[in-house]
Amino acid sequence: MELKIMKNMNHLYKLHGLIPSMLKQTTRRHIQSLADTSVQNKATLYVHWPYCAKMCSYCNFNKYIRNDVDNSRMTECMVKEVETLIKISRKTEIKSVYFGGGTPSLAESGMIASVIKAVQSSATLPENAEITLEANPTTTARAKLREFKDAGVNRLSIGVQSFYKDDLEFLGRQHSTEDAIRCISDAKDLYPGDVSIDIIFGRPNQTVEKWNKELQQLLSLCDDHVSLYQLTVERGTPLFKWVQNKIVILPDDEVMADLYETAIEVLESRGFDQYEVSNFARNGKVGRHNTAYWEGEDYIGVGPGAHGRFTPYSQGKHQREARVQILEPNRWMTEVENQGHGTKLAKPQSQLEQLEELLVMGLRTKDGIKHQTWKKRFSSKSMADLFYNQDIITQYVNSGLLHFDKSGMRASKKGLAVLNPIVQDLLNLLNDHWSGG
Ligand SMILES: C[S@@+](CC[C@H](N)C(=O)[O-])C[C@H]1O[C@@H](n2cnc3c(N)ncnc32)[C@H](O)[C@@H]1O
Ligand code: SF4
Repeated sequence: MELKIMKNMNHLYKLHGLIPSMLKQTTRRHIQSLADTSVQNKATLYVHWPYCAKMCSYCNFNKYIRNDVDNSRMTECMVKEVETLIKISRKTEIKSVYFGGGTPSLAESGMIASVIKAVQSSATLPENAEITLEANPTTTARAKLREFKDAGVNRLSIGVQSFYKDDLEFLGRQHSTEDAIRCISDAKDLYPGDVSIDIIFGRPNQTVEKWNKELQQLLSLCDDHVSLYQLTVERGTPLFKWVQNKIVILPDDEVMADLYETAIEVLESRGFDQYEVSNFARNGKVGRHNTAYWEGEDYIGVGPGAHGRFTPYSQGKHQREARVQILEPNRWMTEVENQGHGTKLAKPQSQLEQLEELLVMGLRTKDGIKHQTWKKRFSSKSMADLFYNQDIITQYVNSGLLHFDKSGMRASKKGLAVLNPIVQDLLNLLNDHWSGG
């Protein structure tokens, strides 16, 4: 059993840990990019706020602890980069905005309002567009949550991680259980139906019994969206050292699988639908912003270390690029001030790379990959032609892990829990096809 975390896509390759090893293994004979004739005029926008009040023991996102954040300079740079990237991406509509981090609830609400205004003056932002902000319980006094709402935010994602005091300490969280409970309650008052809670499972000594109790507490407090991430041991974190030195022992695969299955059962029994490996919603409150990533749509990434995927304006060429912004905030600001944006890398994406991403991302969802979505990226061979009659895929289909039908290809419920080998086999077949094998 395996699960991989996926959060916000500001580190596309990192977040679904599956990708780097897979991509390294793939052959790259047809690396030249093909013309992307279907330039999309809509995109989502991710905004990365890179500062935190404290380092959590498990986290290797792009974040910095600073006492001297220059809020007005950061705001000006965020606004400038939004304007520049919307312009060069030629997007005329921004479908959703996601403020992630780091800890964007540490930012001043004026920054959030200015970014939203910049989007509105650079493109169409539909009135009902989802505008999410990630919030840490200690940085969200009720008044601040209200300010964010006044600034235009209409959805909150709260990083609770655990309801147990000991586990919060182990994870290095700044907040207490009581802080989290207070924050959820204020958030539900101000953003009814639009509050999501992040929980990390797979912590040391986590038994199914303890987890069950915690899930009951989660259900008694939560709104209509929950994200459950398996604790991932990331290089460069204190957790990595503790695990390496056997100071910390994490649950083995069997316990991990039990924890995951328990969570699915408990949440489903209370009306939640698992619409993605790590995401659960009820009353139709699916996160629209992340859904766009899973469906392979274009997105613009603003702020230090943010990632994007779009086809920039350049004469005569229409080529989708994988873009990354400069990581370090001061260097990023200087670059934005000098040239309007702080893009560190803009690498044309080959057609093969786009299809690999679509497989990895799309199969994480309950709905899988639609034939039409595949066709937009690759019109010469359908998914069925490429995969359906291959022995290994037939085995997955016959064992009920993978489904093909009129709408597309998708992993079954059972398949979602063992997704990595399935995706790996699909990637191998795709690469064999590409290399003429
Ligand atoms: C990077 S944080 C940013 C949001 C906010 N600063 C917070 O801590 O809640 C986004 C989410 O990623 C998840 N996350 C980050 N690192 C992780 C890891 N190593 N394993 C599992 N989940 C992780 C956590 O659930 C966290 O809520
Ligand atoms: S988990 Fe959130 S608060 Fe903790 S270090 Fe990472 S980004 Fe900052």
